[in-house]
Amino acid sequence: MSVIKVAILGFGTVGEGVYKTIQSHAEELERVLGRKVEVAAILIKNKQKKRNINEDVLITSDFNEILSLPQLDVVVEAIVGKEPTLTLLKQAIQRGSHIITANKEMFAHHGNELFELAERHKVSIGFEATVAGGIPVIQTLRQLLNVNRVHTVQGILNGTSNFILTEMREKKQSFADALSLAQKKGYAEVDPTNDVEGFDAFYKTMILSRIAFGEEPNWQDVERVGISSITSELIETAEKLGLRFKHIASINKTCSHINAAVKPVLVGKSHPFYSVEGVENAVNVHSDIVGRITLQGPGAGMFPTASAVIEDLVYVCQNQPSNKNFTITTAENNEVKKGNKIE
Ligand code: NDP
Ligand code: HSE
Repeated sequence: MSVIKVAILGFGTVGEGVYKTIQSHAEELERVLGRKVEVAAILIKNKQKKRNINEDVLITSDFNEILSLPQLDVVVEAIVGKEPTLTLLKQAIQRGSHIITANKEMFAHHGNELFELAERHKVSIGFEATVAGGIPVIQTLRQLLNVNRVHTVQGILNGTSNFILTEMREKKQSFADALSLAQKKGYAEVDPTNDVEGFDAFYKTMILSRIAFGEEPNWQDVERVGISSITSELIETAEKLGLRFKHIASINKTCSHINAAVKPVLVGKSHPFYSVEGVENAVNVHSDIVGRITLQGPGAGMFPTASAVIEDLVYVCQNQPSNKNFTITTAENNEVKKGNKIE
């Protein structure tokens, strides 16, 4: 029986989680795919780091060695930043491999390019892990809400921000201490500015917009405010009034265009996000047939993210059309709006 050969790019929180999950869930993968899944290679940057990886896996910092493997069915990308990621993934597609990415910054900027290339090479792209960690929001929107007309999507999309706000409120931690804990737990981005200034949630919002509405707003028109200026005093005052700060992304479609914003919002007990705490994310979709549905679950971390990637592994190996419900558009201005003050 043939084997599905996988390469993992990056062996940090996400890459290691994917590697371990392929081992721990080998039987389930074989049952659903009808073939064994084997990690053939792992791309890393620092060759000196000690890693717990089987001897028969190629560990390299030269992607050409991976591209030269005789068989390479799927490339899972879990590194950071737009480059060299985009270049590596294009090479993988050109070689005929399906790709899976967890990298929302790269994907929000270059998803279109990758989809066009993937279509030409008849391979699939999985990107469930780019939005809301372990919550299967992409598949829910693209597989299960095909006929519904979506009106609005709202979400807590950054686990680090929600974790910090919860720690500051519940445990009276300082912002710096709460962020440091989020970093230790593997929730935060390498540059946590992306988390606390709202860039990470912004990228996720743009990806969701494409899935839910087939298009995204002009990036310059989207308000983006992070949580960095929310002080312990503000949180305490809100608490006394029965309110909590939540960092909320919202997108809605009118007949003429898409409106979106990513910013801290004060919510009361009746709001569906009031009790979404810690690293949890939540996504609330309002559409015409079903009404409102809320998905909630772990928004970051090793195994929740590995879960999203592993489910994508099944999806791409079944060779699903990569751009299902993902309209290829060219954003006219994909610069994120500057300025991040709470207004
Ligand atoms: P980490 O910083 O933990 O790991 C990054 C890994 O990438 C490291 O193993 C590093 O190598 C490797 N790497 C970085 N640059 C290069 C390069 N140029 N060439 C080869 N390898 C490289 O990051 P995470 O695992 O947390 O995140 C990875 C991606 O997944 C990011 O895009 C992130 O946004 C996304 N993501 C993260 C989630 C999380 O909960 N952490 C959740 C969902 C998505 P080395 O080990 O040698 O330093
Ligand atoms: N840094 C991100 C977060 C990881 O905290 O939500 C998950 O995308």
